[in-house]
Amino acid sequence: MSEQIARINESKAVFDDIYVMSDPRSYFSVLGSLDYMIPDVAEPVIRQILAARAARYGDDATVLDVGCSYGINAAVHRFPVNFASLRQRYARREIMELDTEELAQLDRNFYASWPDIGSARFIGLDISEAAIRYANAVGLHVDGVAADLETSELLEKDAAVVAPASLILSTGAVGYVTDRTYSKLLDALATTPWVVSFVLRMFPYDGFIAAFAERGMVTEKLLGATFIQRRFRDEQEFEQSMSVLASRGIETQGFEADGLFQAELFLSRPEADARAAPLEEIVTVSSGRFNSFGARFVQLEEPEGIRTVIEA
Ligand SMILES: C[S@@+](CC[C@H](N)C(=O)[O-])C[C@H]1O[C@@H](n2cnc3c(N)ncnc32)[C@H](O)[C@@H]1O
Repeated sequence: MSEQIARINESKAVFDDIYVMSDPRSYFSVLGSLDYMIPDVAEPVIRQILAARAARYGDDATVLDVGCSYGINAAVHRFPVNFASLRQRYARREIMELDTEELAQLDRNFYASWPDIGSARFIGLDISEAAIRYANAVGLHVDGVAADLETSELLEKDAAVVAPASLILSTGAVGYVTDRTYSKLLDALATTPWVVSFVLRMFPYDGFIAAFAERGMVTEKLLGATFIQRRFRDEQEFEQSMSVLASRGIETQGFEADGLFQAELFLSRPEADARAAPLEEIVTVSSGRFNSFGARFVQLEEPEGIRTVIEA
């Protein structure tokens, strides 16, 4: 990892202990208390990008979720759940009392009890063996690799696991991982993938863009939209992050100055794909979707046509 990235990381709070627990309870409790929401705000955009990729290639993607943790992006994409609803589930006293194996069994049944509304299969990569094990055990991921590709090589057996991926996704992970990890992954894939990254504005993404360019991929950034990741944990994290952003010449008024980490969306892919369907045409952002708590009229697409129902 470059000195620059290491220095930026120093301004961020450290959560390493919650990433390595045998199940996601602490993860949801600690990050939930900071209004962590990037998987929720990213999901509608990821769905649109998956649809655009499927329209171009005629098949559903295999997503490699880098820094996947307990499979949260897979959960919110595949099932009608979100970070907030999962946090509530794990905060129940009755759930708190279970051991990890009992919880994994229930989570497996929990996810199996929802209709799968996803349009992709998921493979995970994370430094945390426990998180990878959990995501596989509860059926969110078809497979996963526990490795730190910043410091070690991709093993042959792990290369075989990631090889089928056609889209690489990450939320909340750039900074922990750099283009070192991505270069090793790209070398192991059977085809050139689409790469979807939600990146905190304090982290430079140019190293990634250069690595992608070497492989004939172009990168677009979605203009005019940022995605809230979470609140700052404390004054120290806030002050330090503001100073990193200032040193990078990033205007923070109306963004991080309001107390929230902001991420940007980058999409990298083969040049011909980008030319055929530019990012701005693929993605529209609907703001405020997660702030509405009352019952809503929604339309259901059924074989007989569209039906209107009330969703609580
Ligand atoms: C903030 S969490 C994001 C998890 C998930 N993507 C989400 O948005 O909920 C960061 C994740 O990156 C993982 N991580 C840290 N260093 C890593 C590395 N070198 N390679 C892969 N994953 C790493 C952590 O274990 C953790 O699960």
